[in-house]
Amino acid sequence: MSAQREHTIAILGLGYVGLPLAVAFSQKYKTLGFDINSEKAGLIASGVDPTNELVDDQLSHALQSHLQITADPTLLSSCNTFIITVPTDIHPDKSPNLEPLIAASTLVGEHLKKGDLVIYESTTYPGCTEEVCVPILSEKSGLVFNKDYTVGYSPERINPGDKQRNVTNILKVTSGSTPEAGQEVDALYNAIITAGTHLAPSIKVAEAAKAIENAQRDVNISFINELALIFDKLNIDTGDVLAAAGTKWNFLPFKPGLVGGHCISVDPYYLAHKAQEVGHDPQVILSGRRINDSMGLHVASSVVKLLHQKDLPVKGGRALILGLAFKENTGDVRNSKVVDVYQELKSFGMEVDIYDPLANPAQALREYGIKLVQEIHLSEYQAILLAVPHQTFTTLAIQTSPQRVVYDLKGVLPRQNVDKRL
Ligand SMILES: NC(=O)c1ccc[n+]([C@@H]2O[C@H](COP(=O)([O-])OP(=O)(O)OC[C@H]3O[C@@H](n4cnc5c(N)ncnc54)[C@H](O)[C@@H]3O)[C@@H](O)[C@H]2O)c1
Repeated sequence: MSAQREHTIAILGLGYVGLPLAVAFSQKYKTLGFDINSEKAGLIASGVDPTNELVDDQLSHALQSHLQITADPTLLSSCNTFIITVPTDIHPDKSPNLEPLIAASTLVGEHLKKGDLVIYESTTYPGCTEEVCVPILSEKSGLVFNKDYTVGYSPERINPGDKQRNVTNILKVTSGSTPEAGQEVDALYNAIITAGTHLAPSIKVAEAAKAIENAQRDVNISFINELALIFDKLNIDTGDVLAAAGTKWNFLPFKPGLVGGHCISVDPYYLAHKAQEVGHDPQVILSGRRINDSMGLHVASSVVKLLHQKDLPVKGGRALILGLAFKENTGDVRNSKVVDVYQELKSFGMEVDIYDPLANPAQALREYGIKLVQEIHLSEYQAILLAVPHQTFTTLAIQTSPQRVVYDLKGVLPRQNVDKRL
């Protein structure tokens, strides 16, 4: 395996992670973007970025130069470097769903040749690459691991909706299955990552680093969410407490909120799974998950209480939720916890509308059975909940009144305009 060889790269999985990565690599290398979803591959090949993450004409430029997009797996045999960016979600029982990783490893194994390099970017638990994926690569290819081919792991840190931090200007952790493979993976990423790289001593370390980045954030938010539950009972505003405590130099500036999406609310279960497998009961990680998952119900019941206090109707009353995406300034609705608020308010008999101009209405309908409203008249609602602070909502004149309850989940509206904030 030569560190000097010319990489011809295949990226498997053209989602939020894979597509920007394919565009970035195509600036330096011949790059094939492959996705099993042929409709998506067709859209991207025609110049449409379904994730909205790329800026200007990045995609069309790449397509005109070294980027080819396909759903045809036979083209993979022309590549010698495979990067896997497929989803790693969880089953309903919260256990890791490794099916896409297994399917992608199977496909790569079928096209693997002597001297090739396979890099995993999908978030997973420490040990997954070498214990689950490598045996598939070896079995399907008939090649010997670390003799005929090597493997790397380089977790992704992109932040959907964030136009400042992107794939090339976020420092990237790299690793390899041998010291030479580590150097090769590191050099490969250094060619496109302007922020530089951190070469971890092993694949397991790199996998664990990614898992704890997200688990740490989840646990920190869960602590603040627990405080919000306590302060609600004490009738004090959590934002006021955090503003006061935040004047201390080492107080960490986390805020309460719904924790959804497919990273922070999912990845801790990968770490918990591995912990349990090796005989440790991960109490802090899982209790954090439980608290964060309960926040939607807390928000809905708080709104119902506020409506009662103002003698406003709950059953038959109308509520408007602003935002369905799992975070601000993105249309990504996967695993959005706004849905918990929506369902709970509906269970009280309220009529609930959700307005999110960034979210894809067809996806909202398909995934949640929710028909997004396309225009809103604030005066028609007895309850307004600002769930996701998209930039576009800043122009809305949201104001509490005796006929209305306003609940601000993110603490972004002027205090005098809201009844309560989380
Ligand atoms: N989105 C993020 O912000 C983010 C950030 C860091 C890490 N990650 C991790 O990166 C990975 C990918 O996440 P994403 O958000 O890009 O997912 P995504 O769902 O947006 O995209 C994944 C793509 O993979 C395709 N796919 C599924 N199985 C495939 C297969 N066998 N072969 C080829 N393509 C296949 C899907 O059709 C889809 O287009 C996950 O492990 C995720 O946890 C995501």
